[in-house]
Amino acid sequence: MSEELKQAIKDIVVVGKGILAADESVKTATKRLASLNVESTEETRRQYRNLILTAPGIEKYICGVILFEETLKQKTDSGVLFPEHLAEVGVVPGIKVDQGLEDFNGTQEQYTKGLDGLGDRLEEYKKSGCRFTKWRAVYSISETTPSDTIIKKNAEDLAKYAKICQEHGFVPIVEPEVLIDGTHSIDKCREVTEKVLKAVFDSLKEENVAIDLAILKPSMVISGKQAENRAGVEEVAKRTVEALKKIVPQELPSINFLSGGQSPEEATAHLNAMHKLGEDLPWYVSFSYARALQGPALKAWQGKQENLALGQEAFINRARLNSLATKGEYLGEMEK
Ligand code: G3H
Repeated sequence: MSEELKQAIKDIVVVGKGILAADESVKTATKRLASLNVESTEETRRQYRNLILTAPGIEKYICGVILFEETLKQKTDSGVLFPEHLAEVGVVPGIKVDQGLEDFNGTQEQYTKGLDGLGDRLEEYKKSGCRFTKWRAVYSISETTPSDTIIKKNAEDLAKYAKICQEHGFVPIVEPEVLIDGTHSIDKCREVTEKVLKAVFDSLKEENVAIDLAILKPSMVISGKQAENRAGVEEVAKRTVEALKKIVPQELPSINFLSGGQSPEEATAHLNAMHKLGEDLPWYVSFSYARALQGPALKAWQGKQENLALGQEAFINRARLNSLATKGEYLGEMEK
């Protein structure tokens, strides 16, 4: 089992590459398609996945893709199952295994569902060729949140999820997302992020999760989206790295950030700036973006077959820029 996990880590922690999140639930995919005035049907969602996953050259910048259950059974335009297509071009298929958010005990906070029957589902996902998993927990920042109760509950569930996945031969991506929405300062975000990460790593340890066979997918330490005087790129990079260095064990192989509502340009610039700090980073630091990688592609595509090549080009361009950012070699949008 541990050999299987070690090999998966080798295949998804690759210098110059990152992970693509293409695991939008039906509800989220419907929202993305609605923004293009495209009705969401199983076929239009397949076309959306086809746009991104069959982009020529994806494997140059992307080493793993997180898929959504529906996509496992869908096929490319040439009739190949998506996970098989990815494996053929040398990209590791992974799967989102949480089942979304649910209100927590009548509070304004939410916890993540999906532990029931997880082991059985994993056996099915394995047959489809998936080798790693993802589970997302969310934390909102307000005067009263996140509460200690939700921080503890999410940490425990993330740890249970990670343990079950490792027992079934999957590398777990542990995703605690401190949401960007709000008027909070970067200081407040840092305080919450450190508290959340501390709880998560304490629980992972308690649950005996092998940290060297797991991946962290965190949000960055960043000002609230509606805050006045939002912190600049260097400050985001500096605070994020400081917080991570304080809490995240060195044996963790890789940190792959989510984009969480940052613009594609911001998400790339922030990642690049972390690599330009001149600090020694004990883990590989890369991306696992959804919106920041797919946004420009969807815009160029507009749901039209005749725009397929344009959309794929836009996706590959973003992937390439983020690949440069993992090496601190991104020169800004002039790069195009
Ligand atoms: O769970 C969230 C996704 O995997 C990452 O999405 O980069 O759009 O925040 P995002």
